[in-house]
Amino acid sequence: MKIKGIGIIGAGQMGAGIAQVCSAIGKKVILCDIKNEFIENGIRTIKKNLDRAISKEKITPKDKEDTLSNINTTIDKKDLADCNLIIEAIVENVEIKSKLFRELGNICNEDTILASNTSSIPIGILAKASRRPEKVVGMHFMNPVPVMKLVEVIRAKATSDDTFNTTFKLAENLGKIPVLVNDFPGFVSNRILLPMLNEAMFCVMEGVAEPKAIDTVMKLGMGHPMGPLRLADFIGLDTCLAIMEVLHRDMEDDKYRPCPLLKEMVKSGKLGNKTGEGFYKY
Ligand SMILES: NC(=O)c1ccc[n+]([C@@H]2O[C@H](COP(=O)([O-])OP(=O)(O)OC[C@H]3O[C@@H](n4cnc5c(N)ncnc54)[C@H](O)[C@@H]3O)[C@@H](O)[C@H]2O)c1
Repeated sequence: MKIKGIGIIGAGQMGAGIAQVCSAIGKKVILCDIKNEFIENGIRTIKKNLDRAISKEKITPKDKEDTLSNINTTIDKKDLADCNLIIEAIVENVEIKSKLFRELGNICNEDTILASNTSSIPIGILAKASRRPEKVVGMHFMNPVPVMKLVEVIRAKATSDDTFNTTFKLAENLGKIPVLVNDFPGFVSNRILLPMLNEAMFCVMEGVAEPKAIDTVMKLGMGHPMGPLRLADFIGLDTCLAIMEVLHRDMEDDKYRPCPLLKEMVKSGKLGNKTGEGFYKY
């Protein structure tokens, strides 16, 4: 299938990045969120990213103009009816995402592919909610989307060859390196990464070391480009907690128990970069 119009639902840090990379290769994009102010924030982020790319001479002012002219916005999901691909990037909550996939199953043309950027939720659950399971696939971009090369393409049991191949090819056309991953909670990336971030949080909670010291150990000792606590702040502590909860529940193994400090920080609104405070202040 040839992808022309792409609907992106959720204009947060991931949705905005996905809208930017899709529109930059000339695709018509409709960016959707529940409130205009969230869409405005997303567009502001895209403009900032494009300005940075101009200052580094990676793109021209004309490229910026063309990219932005490919993006339309809406707060009404019905406007996405004619898109032939939808990429969902809303909050990491299985009930909210399932409700959305149910709605999309009703709204969209029967040929439309429904992709989720979920970090951890098995795609089979969303596929079932949509009532068109052969059209549902995971398209897991990494943060920040314009910079990171990897896309995990999650093939669920019912995903058709056409759905999988179209999504894989689109990721390649976006200049990314797609990797096929089967449908397990957390896929490969977050099944391995999140328990490490969670363990770093246990180290803070138990007083093993201060956040900065823990990050320094992992950067200088293990060669990680960013320490685990800085990375957790960057991902969003609400998203980290949601992923640990999916791993804990779906794998039925206490080794994935979310750190109590993480729960406490999320409860008190310390979500990392996006709220100005997490393990660090911003
Ligand atoms: N943050 C990361 O590093 C990262 C990386 C890969 C994947 N993800 C996944 O991407 C998704 C989005 O994460 P994010 O970091 O961009 O979150 P975010 O909080 O920055 O943005 C989420 C956006 O979704 C919107 N939204 C919520 N419910 C909605 C609905 N029903 N309809 C339309 N819009 C709705 C919110 O208003 C918000 O603007 C999550 O599933 C997350 O797990 C995140």
